[in-house]
Amino acid sequence: MLASVKDILQEAKNNGYAVGAFNVFNMEEAQAVVRAAVKKHTPVILQVTEKTLDYGGDGIIFDVVKAVIERESATIPVGFHLDHGHSFDSVIRAIDVGLDSVMIDASAYSLRENISVTKRVVDYAHSKNVFVQAEIGIVPYLGETDPSPDWEKIMTNPLDAKWLVEETKVDTLAISVGNAHGFFRERSEPDWNRLSEINKLIPSIPLVLHGASDWVNHKVIEAVKRGVVCFNVDTDLRVAFNTVLCQFTHDKCNIIDPRVVMAEARAAVQKVVENKIDLFRNP
Ligand code: G3H
Ligand code: 13P
Ligand code: ZN
Repeated sequence: MLASVKDILQEAKNNGYAVGAFNVFNMEEAQAVVRAAVKKHTPVILQVTEKTLDYGGDGIIFDVVKAVIERESATIPVGFHLDHGHSFDSVIRAIDVGLDSVMIDASAYSLRENISVTKRVVDYAHSKNVFVQAEIGIVPYLGETDPSPDWEKIMTNPLDAKWLVEETKVDTLAISVGNAHGFFRERSEPDWNRLSEINKLIPSIPLVLHGASDWVNHKVIEAVKRGVVCFNVDTDLRVAFNTVLCQFTHDKCNIIDPRVVMAEARAAVQKVVENKIDLFRNP
């Protein structure tokens, strides 16, 4: 059942649990996530990026993911969200296609510019009843930043987070507390005091933790205690999908029906998502 991200996150926040937001790029990955959610009787969020909209064609990927949600989940709430919109125009593009939940990631800008771009997006989005996530502080990317980021410089300043929320009226916030996109780049231990402080200053805002592919039980437990209600996962799904493709291009390259390969990749992703759902819901 296609549901609003706002309701899914609010419900999680009210009841003290977290949900997974999973990046998908095609029909098989969308099915893998929705099937895992249905099997686990747990709400999830599916999300696409600008690159995925470009890859599939905006409207086409939107229709594919929406059809999978509507046809495969009769009762489990499934949200559909734009992840990491980097400009006002790209967010508008996603809203025009039909998404009712978007992220504006202006985290690379100065605080003032971040607030200004985010506010412009929020004003437009709220006039269309669209839910908005912003990012403050930087969640670095594997391969796109220095080997060891200067965490003190890039982690979220709690007072800035409060200011951004007050100025923009944004609905949710992605925060940087030592988490990183991809594998191997995390701070040795997340800055738990910082996360608690952010949560204390903006207690009604559901916090989103990006780069959760490599997060394990004790970190998930601490994060949920301190206001995180959504964990973003992409890399782990890509690895599961590609591992199957690699097997078929090497040891099993006599298979000529691509559906055999794709079905196996889909099943591998579903398994990963089922484990993540368990981890986030009951760490
Ligand atoms: O955090 C977002 C993704 O991991 C990057 O996704 O390659 O589709 O832009 P992308
Ligand atoms: P990972 O690729 O590290 O799982 O991060 C995903 C993410 O944050 C998507 O926004
Ligand atoms: Zn992210």
